[in-house]
Amino acid sequence: MPMNSALYVDENCESRIDRFATIPEPGEGELFVETLYSGANPADIKHATHLGIYPAVLGYDFCGKVLKAPPDSQFQIGQIFAGFTPTGVDRPTKYGTHQDFMVSPEDMAFRVPSNLPKEHAACMATVAMTAADALYNIFGFSPPQETLSGENSGPILIWGSSSSVGLCAIQFARASGVYPILVTASPERHAMLTELGATHCFDYKSPTVSAEIQAVLSTAWCGPIRCAFDSVGSYTDGGSAEHLARCVPETAVLVSVVVQKDPKFKMPLASANRHVVIKIPGSPHPITIPARPADHQRAWSVMLWAVERYGTEFRLPSVEVFEGPAEEALEQVKAIGSSGRGFGKLVLKHPLT
Ligand SMILES: NC(=O)c1ccc[n+]([C@@H]2O[C@H](COP(=O)([O-])OP(=O)(O)OC[C@H]3O[C@@H](n4cnc5c(N)ncnc54)[C@H](OP(=O)(O)O)[C@@H]3O)[C@@H](O)[C@H]2O)c1
Repeated sequence: MPMNSALYVDENCESRIDRFATIPEPGEGELFVETLYSGANPADIKHATHLGIYPAVLGYDFCGKVLKAPPDSQFQIGQIFAGFTPTGVDRPTKYGTHQDFMVSPEDMAFRVPSNLPKEHAACMATVAMTAADALYNIFGFSPPQETLSGENSGPILIWGSSSSVGLCAIQFARASGVYPILVTASPERHAMLTELGATHCFDYKSPTVSAEIQAVLSTAWCGPIRCAFDSVGSYTDGGSAEHLARCVPETAVLVSVVVQKDPKFKMPLASANRHVVIKIPGSPHPITIPARPADHQRAWSVMLWAVERYGTEFRLPSVEVFEGPAEEALEQVKAIGSSGRGFGKLVLKHPLT
């Protein structure tokens, strides 16, 4: 068995490279995987520093090759597949995807069809599942594959919509027939967001953004904003959630991708299939976020819809592959977790060098 290199966060919450990581062993219902690409998310680092999930091997998203499968598995040895892995305090190191060999629970994985490039498959699950949880479980829209015409009424406002979660949310909203789809983003993204399904784009930095949104609503004859989604969870300049809340009426359902002090905000979760235990610094006890298995299934069905239609009705517009020293890969992942790296997804090519 070759060596296993991993991006690791240790018991002191310090991140480093482990070039001699243990080769993981799959449990029941799990696949042993040779990682081909691992997708980076802000959570890779933030879950250690903000939610007490360490020591751990970093990473949630992946695309890989099945090396070992249970006898009754729906996957075959040698098959290329993708997915994401569980989170929470005491997360087993086998689930970290930024390592050359890893373990994937079968029920969080999907086969990669020919229309879906492996690199894109490697960074899709976490952001698509988060957007799907917001739209189909919190806002209560019906999924694209079940939507009847005119069933899902807007308006929806997606704040910071050029985040990867936001890009998924726009495309799901369009596929479910939600209208109108109002979004905020930097002006250089507006043309792309319109192509993906946004009907009206605004600059989130404009001091008059709220008035601009109200002006459009008053001429569109569509009523007030019903659903408001902060898809970026930024804490700078007063915070994206607060900006969003100022632009919508009291009656709007408010959602943010990260925990907000304002209790009116609900938070979607990428992995609602299992209980998730987190330990917030300064809080005396761990907190358990209960599983929502039925909600998870609904979101997963939309994920699979997106996998099938990738390249036509759904896509991630920018996916960059990093191939280079593991130390540099770790720096890139750290940048995504702190100040952000800007637009688009980053995936790491394996084996890590
Ligand atoms: N709850 C969950 O289970 C879950 C799962 C996944 C992600 N998340 C969270 O969701 C958030 C988004 O993650 P992501 O991976 O989708 O992000 P991302 O792709 O890294 O987002 C990058 C984009 O964010 C936009 N942005 C940055 N600051 C902004 C601000 N102040 N206002 C509006 N837009 C801003 C920028 O848009 P422009 O280029 O237009 O300026 C940039 O292109 C993160 O906070 C992440 O931790 C939560």
